Amino acid sequence: MTRKRFVAGNWKMNTNRASAVALAEGVAKLVPSGDVGGGAVDVGVAVPFVYIDAVGRAIAGSGVMLGAQDVYFEKDGAFTGEISIAMLVDLGVKFVLVGHSERRHVIGEKPDLLAKKAKAILDAGLILVHCVGEKLDERDANKTLDVVKAQLDELPATLADASKLVIAYEPVWAIGTGRNATDAQAQEVHAFIRGELSRRYGQAFAEAVRIQYGGSMKPENAAGLLAQPDVDGGLIGGAALKAESFLAIVRA
Ligand code: 13P
Repeated sequence: MTRKRFVAGNWKMNTNRASAVALAEGVAKLVPSGDVGGGAVDVGVAVPFVYIDAVGRAIAGSGVMLGAQDVYFEKDGAFTGEISIAMLVDLGVKFVLVGHSERRHVIGEKPDLLAKKAKAILDAGLILVHCVGEKLDERDANKTLDVVKAQLDELPATLADASKLVIAYEPVWAIGTGRNATDAQAQEVHAFIRGELSRRYGQAFAEAVRIQYGGSMKPENAAGLLAQPDVDGGLIGGAALKAESFLAIVRA
């Protein structure tokens, strides 16, 4: 089965208002229709909350999908500092990251919170990009697959629409380090993830879910990673902060 590739930039806590808009315009210019490579690639940007509105205007009419890096699961109310799904929808957001390693390991978000966020995003009909991945000590202790399996437990027990679920496999030791997983390391974990999805949600569902690789993906290594049968795209940090290198990965 052919899955439409999905390459997304995660801008993290970078850019300012002017540079965010300039970057968005640079990406939008080269993704005019959303049909890069004859409809083979979805392209998205996950933007700091405060610039989502400005970036949404900058990419309006292009094929670039607007995304957020996080969200809170409650609908509204006394949750000082938090952002609701309705607020994101209001600004045109189509996909939301949950469980990025920096949220898990730097901010300290726990699995039960991530599960609530994942469910709320899917219930709202948005695309969930659920991030999983092991730390270096976990890989060294041969616990990679156990860790990833436990993180997949944060997803709802039943799921119907595979087009709304994206898994991002991001080995923590590869994020921002310049040291990417090898093609074979990525493929091994991606195949495992697809197997787990198949066991939980059925084979047809699993075959339709996009699984992105993230962690020091750049123009020089993207083609090899993306040639792996279960690597369906990328979640790009540093290399997404320049339109040219981000688009070089999209072209790969
Ligand atoms: P880098 O591409 O900078 O390693 O970041 C990957 C990442 O965390 C994307 O979410």
